[in-house]
Amino acid sequence: MVIKSKESLHKTLEIHKNKEKTIGLVPTMGALHDGHLALIDFAYKFCDVVVVSIFVNPTQFNNSSDLEKYPRHVEKDAAFLKKHNFKTLVFTPNVEEVYADGLKSESYNFGSIVDHMEGEFRAGHFDGVGSVLKRLFAIVSPDKAFFGEKDYQQLIAVKTLVNITGQKVEIIGCPTNRNEFGLAQSSRNFRLSDTQLKEGELIFEALSQAKSMFDDYSILDIEREVNKKFQQSTLKLEYFSIVKTKDLIPTTTKEPKEAYRGFIAAFLGDVRLIDNMALN
Ligand code: PAF
Repeated sequence: MVIKSKESLHKTLEIHKNKEKTIGLVPTMGALHDGHLALIDFAYKFCDVVVVSIFVNPTQFNNSSDLEKYPRHVEKDAAFLKKHNFKTLVFTPNVEEVYADGLKSESYNFGSIVDHMEGEFRAGHFDGVGSVLKRLFAIVSPDKAFFGEKDYQQLIAVKTLVNITGQKVEIIGCPTNRNEFGLAQSSRNFRLSDTQLKEGELIFEALSQAKSMFDDYSILDIEREVNKKFQQSTLKLEYFSIVKTKDLIPTTTKEPKEAYRGFIAAFLGDVRLIDNMALN
């Protein structure tokens, strides 16, 4: 069922809420793929009713051409969900529905978790994500909301957002869904040619290599290897960072009993891809 307005969504959800059904929200920007299906499947393990929102949020793009080129095909998305027998409520609001008081971004104090990586390379991105999610949480009032670990920094930022706003929604992370060669599923993959899809596997290979080296090599050695891999490829590495999982701050030293993750952003042509992996 595709719902465009807040009013219709509220009417439909009221029926479920009156029956004390658990409502889940899977926020998306559309161009749905197998990764979204896994996320929705995961949401149904915890919830009776799942709302999938499709909204390309202008405030989280720091680059207008990236916003323009973002793949949009709502009808195809709705058909894709139907084909997979999902009884989701598909919420496709327009900008006025979401930003009724004007298209602007709020500023949030997320702390150090957004100082690096996506926060550093995409100015204002997390404020934009926070702004739209605060609004979507207010519109849908879900009990739980689901986010993929491919956007790990976003997942942690959203957990911080609900602490800041006090909104009563549980934020649940879902493991990254990958294609058979390890490339993380992403709407941006729709813009890659077959050759580029193959070349994109390097991101997973590099993260896997970092993981296999982690116990025996220094972080500087691992960074050198990963950088070398990218220099010999057609991908342009924007960053490779090894961070402590607890604060998402890049580090060059390892401490015992500390958890670490590796993060990559790289360009394939003009398509920007990100991924990350737990290293220990
Ligand atoms: O991850 C995304 O697709 C977006 O950042 C989100 C969470 C839907 C907010 O616009």
